[in-house]
Amino acid sequence: CGIVGIVGSGATAAAVVEGLRRLEYRGYDSAGMVLASSSGFEVRRVARDTSSIAALSEWLEGQNPPRQLVAAIGHTRWATHGRPSEMNAHPHLDCSGHFAVVHNGIVENYKELKDELIALGHEFASETDTEVIVHLVEERFRLNGDAEASVQEAFSRLMGSMAVVVLDLREPNTLYMMRRMAPLVVGVDDSTLFVASDVPALLDSASSYFMVPEDTLTVGKVRSNIVTLSPELDELRVEWDVSRVEVGGFSDFMSKEIDEQPRSLRDTLAGRVDQEGRISLDELNITQEELKTIQKVVIVGCGTSLHAGMVARYALEHFVRVPVEIDVSSEFRYRDPVLSPTTLVVGVSQSGETLDTMVALSEAKASGAKTLVVSNVVGSSMARMADAVLYTRAGPEISVASTKTFIAQIGALEILALYLADLKRTLYPSEVNELIGRLNAVPEAISVALSQIKEYERVAQRLLGYDRFYFIGRNVGYPVALEGALKLKEITYTPSEGYPAGELKHGPIAMIDEQAVVVAIAPKGALYEKVLANVEEVRARGAKVVLVVNEMPAGHMASDDDVFLVPQVHQLFSPMVDVVPLQVLAHYTSVARGLDPDRPRNLAKTVTVE
Ligand code: G6P
Repeated sequence: CGIVGIVGSGATAAAVVEGLRRLEYRGYDSAGMVLASSSGFEVRRVARDTSSIAALSEWLEGQNPPRQLVAAIGHTRWATHGRPSEMNAHPHLDCSGHFAVVHNGIVENYKELKDELIALGHEFASETDTEVIVHLVEERFRLNGDAEASVQEAFSRLMGSMAVVVLDLREPNTLYMMRRMAPLVVGVDDSTLFVASDVPALLDSASSYFMVPEDTLTVGKVRSNIVTLSPELDELRVEWDVSRVEVGGFSDFMSKEIDEQPRSLRDTLAGRVDQEGRISLDELNITQEELKTIQKVVIVGCGTSLHAGMVARYALEHFVRVPVEIDVSSEFRYRDPVLSPTTLVVGVSQSGETLDTMVALSEAKASGAKTLVVSNVVGSSMARMADAVLYTRAGPEISVASTKTFIAQIGALEILALYLADLKRTLYPSEVNELIGRLNAVPEAISVALSQIKEYERVAQRLLGYDRFYFIGRNVGYPVALEGALKLKEITYTPSEGYPAGELKHGPIAMIDEQAVVVAIAPKGALYEKVLANVEEVRARGAKVVLVVNEMPAGHMASDDDVFLVPQVHQLFSPMVDVVPLQVLAHYTSVARGLDPDRPRNLAKTVTVE
């Protein structure tokens, strides 16, 4: 799921390994690399799950003396076709051993291509779809003797979304790169050319960055210490610095990212409100006139991003009085959605690369709807594809389980809701102003919540022995419940579910016994008493009760209940604060059980397959 390639004077195997480490967060089960020097090349593949990169590194240390490299390409794989094994790890070579390929994504027509190539005498060494790419290149090269034309012709036969890098081992000063609905970034520094799946892999090596254009063969060469790119590419503005992809003084990235949340939200809100307190979203590429005509909003996303979208639905309906539908990206396209030019389809995606959301957006665009993406990655595939983009400014998120981007996504979507309310005049300017003030108070409320981490951890410690968790909430508390359950599931593998509090009695309550914990999200507001009434129902059936509340609920507590106290903010903004103890609960439980919160089993940070 990660590619790192280097050509030129800066090509060292250590730099490739470091780059792969920076991409670890994307998830992987095996790894491999090819090292090319003027006197030949060497390939190494390992399948040792999340210690595969460490194994590559150990192998390199044993290589004495280090050779003078011309090019090096590394890859981390997350199995789709063919089990995780050394044989299936990348890079893959053709029969003649002249071309090496690394690939992310899926070659959808690989079966047909493989049959065709086998009929032509090609022998396959792996079970992967990837290997057809390199045999196709070899086949074309046998006919035309021109590497670039061969790669181009091979690429044109591939169906599906993917990022591919090919190295001609006889001419290792050249990289052939292609991407289709998957990320692939080129970096340049003096006389060295880099390629990677994501900017963080290159942050301390490259000084300028470029996105490989969609579906266009891009050839990067280093000759006489000069890097050339063909076609010429537009430079990406990258504002991230290395410290944001280092764990610093924290035990892991997740705790660092939880701690960064006030800043992530503050940065996301900053600059989007002008001197007079009016929202300016000039960055949106949809005109104000077009936005005024919007009659329906559809939000799509996956995982945590979907939950952020669910929170925003309440603000959009309440402030803008526009109907909002919400759908899981992978379901959206198959339900024959009713869209028109007055529909705004909002894709929420931290990475901007999740294929399910990307496909949903592209279908929406094709049916004439306006599309907008909320993404954390400048120049991501969705950001380039959608009509408009609203960036969250959370900085790179490394831990697989999202935390700070959830809060930043909600912040960005709340700004969007207030902006639309202002445009459509569903709120008075003075009301918008007041709400902006209350939104701007949220980062500080998150800081206050974070100052109570030790308290939250003490509660988490008391919950370690329980084996099932049910999170309940009403209104915006419901997506918080879903997010609390998702976090716990993702990084502790504890069975946990989120439910609308009122729905509990229609089934889930049958599961309640002394081994169950019920975490109720009950911020002050119209539905506070109702959530507490649902709590009574489960307490009476023996559940261990934990409340997320703004103050101790006198008269509504039993002696063995536990409480996560959080500051009160505007009810529609409360998910950004109420989620904090739930993130801490998941993180504490994961560490206490000896698990790695940053790298949960079976999960990938960015899922670029359908
Ligand atoms: C994966 C990750 C989740 C994430 C989801 C959506 O499943 O494991 O943590 O929420 O993808 O990712 P996106 O980049 O689209 O927000």
